[in-house]
Amino acid sequence: MKTEVRKIEDLKSEVAQDALAEAGKLLRSGQLVAFPTETVYGLGANGLDGEACARIYEAKGRPSDNPLILHVADRAMAETVAAEIPPMAEKLMAAFLPGPMTLILRRKSIVPDRITGGLDTVGIRMPESAAARAMIRAAGVPVAAPSANISGRPSPTTAASVLRDMDGRIPLILDGGPCRFGVESTIVDCTGPVAVILRPGAITREMLTEVLGGVKLDPALVGAGTVPKAPGMKYKHYAPKAPMTLLEGAPAKMAAAFRRQVRQLQKDGHTVGILASDEVCDALADFVPDALRKSYGPQGDLSAIAAHIYEALIAFDDTEADALLGEGTTEVGLGLAIMNRLHKASGFHTIQI
Ligand code: TXA
Ligand code: MG
Repeated sequence: MKTEVRKIEDLKSEVAQDALAEAGKLLRSGQLVAFPTETVYGLGANGLDGEACARIYEAKGRPSDNPLILHVADRAMAETVAAEIPPMAEKLMAAFLPGPMTLILRRKSIVPDRITGGLDTVGIRMPESAAARAMIRAAGVPVAAPSANISGRPSPTTAASVLRDMDGRIPLILDGGPCRFGVESTIVDCTGPVAVILRPGAITREMLTEVLGGVKLDPALVGAGTVPKAPGMKYKHYAPKAPMTLLEGAPAKMAAAFRRQVRQLQKDGHTVGILASDEVCDALADFVPDALRKSYGPQGDLSAIAAHIYEALIAFDDTEADALLGEGTTEVGLGLAIMNRLHKASGFHTIQI
């Protein structure tokens, strides 16, 4: 299959409108379309068509027990698939939607069993991205979409990275430029008495607490040994090809700690790559060649870091690096989402400095 990439950055333009109409047509006919959102690129299919959704699992190599979330353009579309919208979900919708958040709600029977992994709930996401919502409107149905990567690889935040994983597997990629947030949506389970964060994201725990008064973290996010409630969170995720070790601790001590670790690894014969702040990358210029130093942004600039971690991880796959060192951040605010992804990318391999 030939994969076409069509630009939609200027949404109002004729080229973009044509591409969106084409995407709508493909989705209605059961085909897959990759599209930009404010978090990461999604791999979309008609969410009411079980057979179309089966193609998503095939294209990604995704385990079939991992449910898909449904993307909707507006509240009315959400109501076609959610059996009820409890008061806490109402509050969250009013405060944060459209935006980078997915709500787990009881589902209606119209949602195909194929996509729910046997659960009686469904994840509903109303993206902030105008491009994503325009595409959903063009399709006229809720769009099931996981991140547009091969299962187990970092989520793509550019059309080029989608193409890298999906070339030849899908007919169309809509290119809306780089994604603003860079980490997947916050997943909030609204089916119990208290809201539970199943996956941290750009709508932070602090923001949720302010609106709801109280919110819990899925215990699986805090310690190992518990089965996460979002089935997808149990898989090893976001794995770069070279194994990564995460250094955690005070920012001021990072550069020195990196220097020590790099020296040791190099002595052991490794080609070391570092994924770190501008500060640490600059400090390591004498030890690690340019191509093996990927900066994710200035130390402490969590928005910049979130927006760059996946592309930086992906970039290492084109290098000779056979050992990666990553720089950890705070777990406050957006830092919780960043550290969740970095912990997974490193298989929880960390060194406290
Ligand atoms: O930002 C995002 O959410 C992106 C963009 C494309 O919208 N999508 C995304 O989808 O990250 P995916 O499939 O990669 O992650 C969805 C997560 C998975 O871990 C899945 O197991 C979980 O949501 N999930 C889906 N339905 C669920 C349900 N009913 N209950 C609990 N977890 C659910
Ligand atoms: Mg994913």
